[in-house]
Amino acid sequence: MDLTDRPRRLRTDGVRPLVAETDLSASDLVAPVFVDATTDERVPIETMPGHERVPVDEAVDRVAEVRETGVEAVILFGVPESKDASGSRAYADDGVVQRAIRRISAETDATVIGDVCLCEYTDHGHCGVIEETAESDPTLTVKNDETLDLLARTAVSQADAGADVVAPSAMTDGQVGAIREALDEAGHEDVAILSYAAKYESAFYGPFRDAADGAPAFGDRRHYQMDPANRREAFREARLDAEQGADVLMVKPGLPYLDIVGDLRREFDRPIAAYNVSGEYAMLHAAAEKGWLDLEATALESLTALKRAGADLIITYFAEDVADHL
Ligand code: PBG
Repeated sequence: MDLTDRPRRLRTDGVRPLVAETDLSASDLVAPVFVDATTDERVPIETMPGHERVPVDEAVDRVAEVRETGVEAVILFGVPESKDASGSRAYADDGVVQRAIRRISAETDATVIGDVCLCEYTDHGHCGVIEETAESDPTLTVKNDETLDLLARTAVSQADAGADVVAPSAMTDGQVGAIREALDEAGHEDVAILSYAAKYESAFYGPFRDAADGAPAFGDRRHYQMDPANRREAFREARLDAEQGADVLMVKPGLPYLDIVGDLRREFDRPIAAYNVSGEYAMLHAAAEKGWLDLEATALESLTALKRAGADLIITYFAEDVADHL
């Protein structure tokens, strides 16, 4: 037995940190923040322990709490005062997210990312304008091209309010190009696009839909979000988004899709983001509550794995807790 090569030599407490290949820091993390126009008090989100929907008046305080942990970037989601067929509160200048962004960018130095989608704002809960007959034939659901203009308006209204980055998540073909063009026309050449390039139709979004009240009223999203069975298709989605001007390419969900994160890291020269989604957060909390897992350790390991796979930045509900311990 030849044991000249012994990997364990590098695993002593003194040496291990010197040879660690992956480093996680607070500056890699983005914390989701939910602003709610229907309440004037903070409302705990039942499916995501530790998270709350906050009124616009508390958005600045909420962001200050995030920044105290060392996390400097937030992504904003909105719960509007009312919903309609075309999601008009998503692109209203006085929409809940626009009002929150205005205050946060005026009163803090946080990096503000706006999630650009319509599902929280439409009365049917789909991510765009739907066919009149969609309810009886859900294969029709979202009208792609008619939705582009509304997404572009949403992005511009967020940029007008002071967003540093916009993040289109509707999986509408051509959304990145439409948004880039509209931003440039409005004088927002410096606002970056973080595109949800490979966004899968995932059951791991369940707790989020509870948090943001954005579940589809009928049907599902498999006609516009990606099939979890597909790997090659992620290259195609990412290539289209990169060609249309995406500055950062995101994979969502995170942990079940590490192969996709690795693929895009190798194939593209843009930064890669991963979204450690609500279901990934909720299941660790549920298991920890039963005493079956150590929450802090599994959260840290999850985020380290995403970075190891190739993510440069991670959107995660664990941002504050993990940053506190780093
Ligand atoms: C909006 C959007 C969703 C999530 C982020 N942006 C919901 C969805 O696509 O159904 C999910 C995030 C999460 O589960 O943490 N389209």
